[in-house]
Amino acid sequence: MISIRNLSRDFYSGELKQTVLKNINLEIEGGDFLTIMGPSGGGKSTMLHIMALLIEPTTGEVYYNNNKLNFKDEKALDNYRRDNIGLIFQNSNLISCLSPLENLIIAMNSKESYSSKKKKCKELLDKVGLSHKYNSKVSSLSGGEAQRVSVVRALVNNPKVILCDEPTGALDSVNGKKVIELLINIRKERKCTLIIVTHDESIGELGERKIYLKDGELHEMDRNIQNI
Ligand SMILES: Nc1ncnc2c1ncn2[C@@H]1O[C@H](COP(=O)(O)OP(=O)(O)OP(=O)(O)O)[C@@H](O)[C@H]1O
Ligand SMILES: [Mg+2]
Repeated sequence: MISIRNLSRDFYSGELKQTVLKNINLEIEGGDFLTIMGPSGGGKSTMLHIMALLIEPTTGEVYYNNNKLNFKDEKALDNYRRDNIGLIFQNSNLISCLSPLENLIIAMNSKESYSSKKKKCKELLDKVGLSHKYNSKVSSLSGGEAQRVSVVRALVNNPKVILCDEPTGALDSVNGKKVIELLINIRKERKCTLIIVTHDESIGELGERKIYLKDGELHEMDRNIQNI
């Protein structure tokens, strides 16, 4: 489903070049569940943002369903993202003057009625323990509450691929567990691909495929046969 070939990414600060990803190769099948771990600055977010088609690789290719993506074609990338990808950012990136419910509804691209959208969004907010905050302003939410809204926002369009950048980074263990359970259940129900970047080893362990990114190099641990 996603194929990453000979990919590298450089960043410059002034004249100084930093190679953040080095010759990465990765084949991801529909329905795979990957966790990505590794030290801070190792390139995890960069890798995830390339998979979300938000950052262009310096060299190499990204294929979705055997189609090679052209990173110069913004419109095609937008369409691809809209139809395939749900992204949970490391920072929640919500619109702070709107409520959780409004943030979710405007992110939805289905043609169903407003009331049916509202019902779906409420159900998802309930699952992450936010039933009492539907209509609060996002600016009044705690960091963890906002993060849970952003998790739900990534799910509203039934994406084929869910990309999560430290989805439990701002959460206590109870709410973190709820979010991970929601993601795992949604992946089971919808048979979508789930990729979670995390610093939490207990979450990293859950992946059926475990990736380790360090100094821009990708290593895959042995497959976890028990979970497959
Ligand atoms: N837009 C940018 N411009 C310059 N350097 C960047 C940019 N984005 C990322 N970097 C650099 O690339 C390196 C990898 O960053 P990245 O965010 O991918 O790391 P990470 O593995 O997600 O780290 P963390 O666990 O702290 O989130 C860092 O050294 C960072 O400073
Ligand atoms: Mg990061």
